[in-house]
Amino acid sequence: MDRGSRKEDVELIPIQRSTLVDIKGVPLFGPTLEIWDPLWGFKARPDDLLICTYPKAGTTWLQEIVEMVQSGGDPQKCARAPIYTRIPFIELVHHILSGLKDAEAMPSPRTLKTHLPVQLIPPSFWEQNCKIIYVARNGKDNAVSYFHFHRMDQEMPEPGTWDQFLEDFIAGKVAWGSWFDHVRGWWEAKDHHRILYLFYEDMKEDLAREIRKVAQFLDVELSAPILNKIVQHTTFANMKTNPMANYSTVPPSVMDPAVSSFMRKGTVGDWKEHFTVSQSEHLDKVCAQELEGSGLTFRTEL
Ligand code: A3P
Repeated sequence: MDRGSRKEDVELIPIQRSTLVDIKGVPLFGPTLEIWDPLWGFKARPDDLLICTYPKAGTTWLQEIVEMVQSGGDPQKCARAPIYTRIPFIELVHHILSGLKDAEAMPSPRTLKTHLPVQLIPPSFWEQNCKIIYVARNGKDNAVSYFHFHRMDQEMPEPGTWDQFLEDFIAGKVAWGSWFDHVRGWWEAKDHHRILYLFYEDMKEDLAREIRKVAQFLDVELSAPILNKIVQHTTFANMKTNPMANYSTVPPSVMDPAVSSFMRKGTVGDWKEHFTVSQSEHLDKVCAQELEGSGLTFRTEL
C-alpha cells in the first residue's frame, strides 16, 4: 500500500501484513472500513481531478505525467515532495495517516488518487462531474507486478507462492478485488462521465502521444519542447532514479528494495517470465468470459 508519511514516523510503527475486509463485496484494507462513511460522503469539488487505477497498472507513472503537464513541464514543482504526498490517496488509512484528511485539507485545484472500483467511488465525484483519468494494464503483467509488490511491501497481505497469488488474483481475492470487474466497470463508465481511459501498453508504445491525450483532456496546451521535456522526465529510467517518484523515501522496513524494487521492470510482456502455458491459457479464457461484449481488449505484448 502506498504511504504518505514521514520516514521517521513510520520507523516507529510496528510493521505487519494486512488482512482484508469485505466492503460492499470488494476486499479492501480493514482501516478503510472504519472511514467508510466519511469517505462515501467525501465532498468532491468541480475542479478535482481523480486518477484512478487498479493497483500496479501505472498509477505513479500517470501521477507524474499529470503533475508535469499541470506545471507546464516544471520538474522543480514535481520535486517538492514524494508523489504520495503530492497527490492524496483518498481511501488510504495508515496509522497516523489519512488520505481522506489530506485531501480535505488540500486547496483547489486538487489531484487525487484512488484504486476504488467504479461502484465504490464517492457519489460527489459524479455529482460534481469531475474529470477522471483511468489507466488499465493487461491482466497478466498487472498480476505479476502486483505479486512482486506484495512481496516487497511488508504491509500487503502475504502473497504466498506465485501460483497461489495468481489464483487469488483471478478469483478477485486480493486488495481492491477483481481486476476484470475493475477494468470493465471503468470502461463502461467512460461512456457516461468525463473519463479519459488510457492503457499502460499504449503509454509504453508512444509516450508522447498518450501525454498529448492527457494534456488535451486537461485543457493544457503543450509546446513541442515542453512535451519532449515531460516525455524525458517520465521515462521508466528517469522515474526509477527519481526519489520523489520511486518510493525510495518509504523506509525499507515497509517497502523492501532488497526483495523487489517499486520501479521494478516497467515493461510489457514480463508475464512470460512467470506464467506457465496453462496459467496463461486459463487467464485468457477467464478474460474472454469476463470482458465478453464490452469491446475492451488488451495487448499483452508490443
Ligand atoms: P512493474 O512491477 O511491472 O515494473 P503503480 O504505480 O500503479 O503501483 O504501478 C507500478 C508499475 O508501473 C510497476 O510495474 C512500475 O515499474 C511501472 N512504472 C512506473 N513508472 C513507470 C514508467 N515511467 N514507465 C513504465 N512503467 C512504469
